[in-house]
Formats: sequence, C-alpha cells, structure tokens
Amino acid sequence: MANVTLHDMHFEPYLGEAEVAHAIDALAANVAKDYANKTPLFVGVLNGSYFFASELLKRLDIPCEITFVKVASYHGTVSSGTVSQLIGLNERIAGRHVVVLEDIVDTGNTIVHIMEALREQQPATVAIASLLLKPEAYKKDIPIDYVALEIPNVFVVGSGLDHDGLGRNLPGIYRLATA
Ligand code: IMP
Ligand code: MG
Repeated sequence: MANVTLHDMHFEPYLGEAEVAHAIDALAANVAKDYANKTPLFVGVLNGSYFFASELLKRLDIPCEITFVKVASYHGTVSSGTVSQLIGLNERIAGRHVVVLEDIVDTGNTIVHIMEALREQQPATVAIASLLLKPEAYKKDIPIDYVALEIPNVFVVGSGLDHDGLGRNLPGIYRLATA
C-alpha cells in the first residue's frame, strides 16, 4: 500500500485489506448467530455502505433481504433544526427485524436521524452494524450493536469511505497523513 492523494489531501496506509476482511468475518459470525431465524432486512446507507454491505452479506448463510437508502438532510422550519428524510425505503418494515448498515459512525448525528425515521415505521427490532466506529467522537446513547473495527479520531478513506467523493474504491483503510 502506497500513500495516496485525493484532491488536496494526503493519506497513508492504515489498515490492510486482510485486516478489514478479518474484522468483517467476526462481525458476520455474530450477526448470523443472532439473526439465524429472523430473516432480517438489512438497510444499507448509501453511498458509503456499499462495500461493507456486500462483504457482510456474502458471509451470511441465513435467509435475509437487503435494501438501500439515502439520507437527505435539510433545515426545516421547525425549531428542532435539521430534519432528515430517508429516501428510497420502499419495503414494508413494520414487524421486520431491521439491521442498519453504515460505513462509519463518528459523532452519531446521522445514525440518530436514521433510527428516528425507521422507528416511526414500527419495525419489530432495529440494530446497527457499522464497519468503523470512532469511540472518542461518539457521544450518543444509542448502542452500536455490531462494529467491525474501532478507530481513533482520525479522518479515513477507503473501503467505501470517501473524501469529497474520492477514495471509496481504495482497498483497505487509509488515514490522513501526519506529514
Ligand atoms: P456522524 O453523523 O458524525 O456519525 O458522521 C457520519 C458520516 O460522516 C459518515 O456516514 C461519513 O459519511 C462521514 N464521516 C465521518 N467520519 C469520516 C471519516 O473518517 N472518513 C470519511 N467519512 C467520514
Ligand atoms: Mg456515510
């Protein structure tokens, strides 16, 4: 793995492809065990989750479904500030066992909005699975049920994660270079 430049920023290799794969193996084993007889509906959050979603599902030998959503955020006129809407969720999720798939949970603002929007539709259960978690940045109460890799508070790209659109295709994980 060599350093890469995306737009104006420099990134250095951080986690190799094998290390990422190994972490997803462990996560997948836990999900398979917990959802063996539940036919879960996985809801991948685009764009970043495409890689994790694909890698996770190919490791699951249980009946399951997958769909993808986009999160559209806008400032509403209500006092609560930012309003988020899930675009593309056409499946009936009432009564289903839903597992949200994220590329990364940082502050947790995004996942809070997603959970609010999903719970309105009364799924039987909702869990969260994320490829990456930044524990130092995460300040919300919602448990992140399945995490492949915990990382420090650094900006990373690769394996679905981008810097302004670039870097999602990089195998493994790269971090912002220190020098
Ligand atoms: P949160 O709402 O603060 O948890 O941030 C979640 C979103 O911010 C993710 O879905 C990513 O799109 C983006 N994000 C947070 N940290 C990173 C990072 O290190 N690299 C790339 N994107 C990030
Ligand atoms: Mg994202």
